[in-house]
Amino acid sequence: MRNYKIAAIPADGIGTEVIAAGVSVLESLQKRLGNVSFAIEHFDWGSDYYKKHGVMMPTDGLETLKNFDAIYFGAVGAPDVPDHITLWGLRLPICQGFDQYANVRPTKILPGIQSPLRNAGPGDLDWVIVRENSEGEYSGHGGRAHRGLPEEVGTEVAIFTRAGVSRIMRYAFKLAQSRPRKLLTVVTKSNAQRHGMVMWDEIAAEVAKEFPDVTWDKMLVDAMTVRMTLHPQSLDTIVATNLHADILSDLAGSLAGSLGVAPTANIDPQRRFPSMFEPIHGSAFDITGKGIANPIASFWTAAQMLEHLGEKEAATLLMSAIDQVCAAGIKTPDVGGKATTLEVTEAVITAIIKS
Ligand code: NAI
Ligand code: MG
Repeated sequence: MRNYKIAAIPADGIGTEVIAAGVSVLESLQKRLGNVSFAIEHFDWGSDYYKKHGVMMPTDGLETLKNFDAIYFGAVGAPDVPDHITLWGLRLPICQGFDQYANVRPTKILPGIQSPLRNAGPGDLDWVIVRENSEGEYSGHGGRAHRGLPEEVGTEVAIFTRAGVSRIMRYAFKLAQSRPRKLLTVVTKSNAQRHGMVMWDEIAAEVAKEFPDVTWDKMLVDAMTVRMTLHPQSLDTIVATNLHADILSDLAGSLAGSLGVAPTANIDPQRRFPSMFEPIHGSAFDITGKGIANPIASFWTAAQMLEHLGEKEAATLLMSAIDQVCAAGIKTPDVGGKATTLEVTEAVITAIIKS
């Protein structure tokens, strides 16, 4: 029996609904497989915790999380707490504290799900976006001077280091190499941003030499939105900066049908620390408590977690259950169905148990 310690942090809004669904799916995998078990510990960190304690998580939060094999995360964000507090108070400290520098975002059109692209069906859009997750535009460097005065200044400085860019580039090339098409697109904005972005391009060309079997090309981020929309078949693995990939992956999620199916993994490729797995979406105030949140993104990210833990069979079983349930039309309203979170979850569990 292989045992894994999983820290579940559902946090806010629909985060609590989709993580509860994901935990019951993990329990069904444990039952079905019999050779793997999950010890799942829940943490009540997030915006409610903040309102009580003035912090999003305890000061020794990272110390506590270090003892786990993986982190299963919901979403942060509450209508009455500023977004930069919720984000910088919980999710970013975990990503940065555990040096989860590779943010991996697979996207495909699942069977039975309609892409807003008229001519695209399953197979036409099958991408993995690799987002640099430790520096770039979200490094937190900058400041404000002369607050509130007419001459107030705010700076938000993007930090790109050779070490940071090289390691994400190498990760992306390796991932591209592991996929059947061995195709990588490097996204920058090196026409307008002539320092850090030009360095990205140079490092890409250097790292490419280590991967002669990977075909790669370069795109400017604005042109990339056009290519994703008009020629989705021409793309496979994509690597971009923290900001660019954040935006492109929301576009990718919506082109695949809904943000509610888009997963993400925050990975420490060196495995010094636990990696964190979460749906891409936020806490979705507009549907919180209605029981209609799409749990597919949180199931898919659980499959990424299983893959990362080396549990390939469990990951494959879960992905195939997701495919079956989507193909059968058991879908939440965001993807054109009528099912509730619970109905989708029960259908996935049934598919797992019967497989
Ligand atoms: P959002 O992702 O929460 O919602 C955007 C739209 O997509 C909403 O209409 C929502 O109902 C829909 N949606 C999202 N997930 C869905 C699901 N699983 N099933 C069905 N529909 C779904 O983004 P929004 O509204 O911009 O942000 C709300 C809060 O979430 C903010 O406080 C924001 O800062 C936070 N946020 C947190 C993230 C995280 O924790 N990683 C990521 C994005 C936003
Ligand atoms: Mg985003």
